[in-house]
Amino acid sequence: MALSFLGIESSCDDTAAAVVRGDGTILSSVVAGQTELHAAFGGVVPEIAARAHTEKLDHCVEEALHLSGLRLADLDGVAVTAGPGLIGGVMAGVMLAKGIAAGTGLPLVGVNHLAGHALTPRLTDRVEFPYLMLLVSGGHCQFLRVDAADAFHRLGGTIDDAPGEAFDKVAKLLGLPQPGGPAVEAEAASGDPARFALPRPLLDRPGCDMSFSGLKTAVLRARDDLAAARGGLSRQDRADLCAGFQAAIADVLAEKTRRALAQTRTPLLAVAGGVAANARIRADLEQVAQDGGAGFLAPPLRLCTDNAAMIAWAGIEAFRLGQRDGMALAGRPRWPL
Ligand code: KG4
Ligand code: ZN
Repeated sequence: MALSFLGIESSCDDTAAAVVRGDGTILSSVVAGQTELHAAFGGVVPEIAARAHTEKLDHCVEEALHLSGLRLADLDGVAVTAGPGLIGGVMAGVMLAKGIAAGTGLPLVGVNHLAGHALTPRLTDRVEFPYLMLLVSGGHCQFLRVDAADAFHRLGGTIDDAPGEAFDKVAKLLGLPQPGGPAVEAEAASGDPARFALPRPLLDRPGCDMSFSGLKTAVLRARDDLAAARGGLSRQDRADLCAGFQAAIADVLAEKTRRALAQTRTPLLAVAGGVAANARIRADLEQVAQDGGAGFLAPPLRLCTDNAAMIAWAGIEAFRLGQRDGMALAGRPRWPL
């Protein structure tokens, strides 16, 4: 019989629980978002997130078990995100996992949230090590060479905002709805990406580090210049700004990915995170992989964005390598891979 693990995730603004088998079968995956709770504040409010996790976690776990058809006694272990993330939420998940482990005697495995994302291609597609992973979401942006389930090499990442965060902020600047990524992408479809000369930050510097906050400021300046000159933005102005911004992000991600692939020479490029849903960005990355002689993999979006199936899976991989955490497992707000 294959192993089966319960996974618990509560490090940002999604409360999630899942049951996954060691052969990669996802028996259940429940995700309860909190977008509406934070919408009025223009960002995730840590105290509100922590309280919502506390309220929703029990229910998510019960639901995940129910949908899986398994009882706690049928499981082989409990995996929980122990960081990095908002510490209130991380602690809520860790405490629940400890309670379950103590009550059932099941082994407890603390998982790094980034390892969860980074190992997802093995859950969905059984890929072999090594591979290059690009995580691009609202909270993450980094290149990882994944050598083993416990060996990650970071090649670079953003030194300020994540691209998703930049999409969200640009949407806000232009009066578009949240989440900003899909809204900006939709506007960009009818825009001219060449009309505004927006910067490609850090492309002139070697290495794989990226920066996106200056790009957002450049959009703000272009918007204000237009508004000052014409008293407002036309529909076309907005579409052109969105197209220019999206092209700048895509260019930076593509060029830095080209460098990361050249450095690692891995046979596969995998991408994860909400921003990987962007058609232009995804097509550019796919082209970079092809040019570099590498395969390209983007797992289904529901497994690329925050979820607990990836945590259960990362827990299974760590468990197979011998990891066991006792009641001393502590949540960590910062935890580089
Ligand atoms: O991975 P994710 O669901 O959550 C975390 O950040 O953890 O990513 C959400 C981010 C948001 O910033 C959203 O605006 C962005 O991904 N996003 C997109 C698109 N769809 C979602 N960005 C660009 N283009 C899209 N189509
Ligand atoms: Zn995440």
